[in-house]
Amino acid sequence: MERYIIRGGKSLQGEVEIGGAKNAALPILAAAIMADETVLLENLPNVSDVNVLLQVITEIGATVERIDEHTVKINGSTISDLTVDNDQIRKIRASYYLLGALVGKYNEAHVALPGGCDIGSRAIDQHIKGLKALGTNVKIEHGMLSAKTAHLRGNHIYLDVVSVGATINIMLAAVNANGNTILENAAKEPHIVDVANMLNSMGANIRGAGTDVIRIKGVPKLHGTEYSIIPDQIEAGTFMMAAAVTHGDVLIHNVIPKHLEAITAKLNEMDCRVIEYDDAVRVIGAEHLRSTHVKTLPYPGFPTDMQPQISVALALANGTSIVTESIFESRFRYIDEIVRMGANVRMLDNTAVITGVPAFTGAEVAAPDLRAGAALVIAGLAAQGYTVIDDIVYIQRGYEEFDKKLQQLGAEISKVETDRDIEKFKLKVVS
Ligand code: EPZ
Repeated sequence: MERYIIRGGKSLQGEVEIGGAKNAALPILAAAIMADETVLLENLPNVSDVNVLLQVITEIGATVERIDEHTVKINGSTISDLTVDNDQIRKIRASYYLLGALVGKYNEAHVALPGGCDIGSRAIDQHIKGLKALGTNVKIEHGMLSAKTAHLRGNHIYLDVVSVGATINIMLAAVNANGNTILENAAKEPHIVDVANMLNSMGANIRGAGTDVIRIKGVPKLHGTEYSIIPDQIEAGTFMMAAAVTHGDVLIHNVIPKHLEAITAKLNEMDCRVIEYDDAVRVIGAEHLRSTHVKTLPYPGFPTDMQPQISVALALANGTSIVTESIFESRFRYIDEIVRMGANVRMLDNTAVITGVPAFTGAEVAAPDLRAGAALVIAGLAAQGYTVIDDIVYIQRGYEEFDKKLQQLGAEISKVETDRDIEKFKLKVVS
């Protein structure tokens, strides 16, 4: 099993390139199969969740041609199976986007219930509510989520909870419906806008994405397109936090600074400097980080996907910080791990009271989920001595070449498989 070993204490310096956004790429791959013409997608991140979805798309009969690591051509005209089920798809959350896409195109789909990171109860009632409102009969049976209809019809839908997944799934199903759909209390994340832009480039008629009311005028058919996925806001934020924690100076390329505003604001409060360019940000870490308070909220609030990373930084800041997680109830499962590294954290329901300590000590820890895993890497980079991180498969779901990008910035990190590899790493970094 692959692990990361890190010798902490190096200040990150240099430049790093951010890839395409995983959480935009996944629904965009689902959207791509809705056309019977070829869709060319660029800036696709080469991460395991994306590759699982590509595999599943192939299994239902779509033609997938990999042009290079980050470019793919998809043609949905050859789809022959409306049932999506294999062991891999059950592990990823984005499987449900195939429900919206296939129902939108063929009026029928059967998809294994979604898995994904264990960060909370992760209900899908709003997806079901939306699909039902569009005229489908939705059933959950034997671990499968099925939707079927004679024809989809537009409707007025109000989401009871702001949900990224439900907003996108309803958009996917509604683009080909008869008539108009108005979706209120929609999520506003950059990836919602990206999916809407991509669908519009295929001939859909979606207005208002990025606001809380999205209007969709049904069109009979979508056509092929060429589309480049937006940069990953969370990958960028993770490198920003790594720079801050290691008192580094890192120029992060291929970002949209506007998407990073909530993270930038917090780094400023923590006494770091963030300089914005057109498509880059430079983060200069403070000599001593300052405590602050954070509450996760839907966009444009502070992203839940950055909560573990900022909490690790605050655990090394002067003073006491309060971090409240308001989106997913089980997103603090990494706290026990950083406490073993020396952090001082008290949990009160969904709030962490974090009193900064001057330094962490390296330890053997395990990644409980994707973002928590990334946060443990950040903790390891800042720790004294060696940190070994198990279960890095979670990290590989959403970060492409995380270790290599960190090495480029001067970090002492390596992917290892055996205890012997660990010993070799130790010998190498000491010499
Ligand atoms: C997406 O998950 C992302 N996943 C998550 O990224 C991200 O944390 C989350 O959005 C919030 O930004 C993908 O894009 C594949 P939600 P999703 O529906 O769609 C409740 C990462 O690390 N809810 O916006 O599952 C839900 O329980 C991951 O990259 C309902 O009650 O998130 C949660 O409390 C992990 N009913 C809140 O809404 C529903 O039908 C927000 O969930 C749907 C959601």
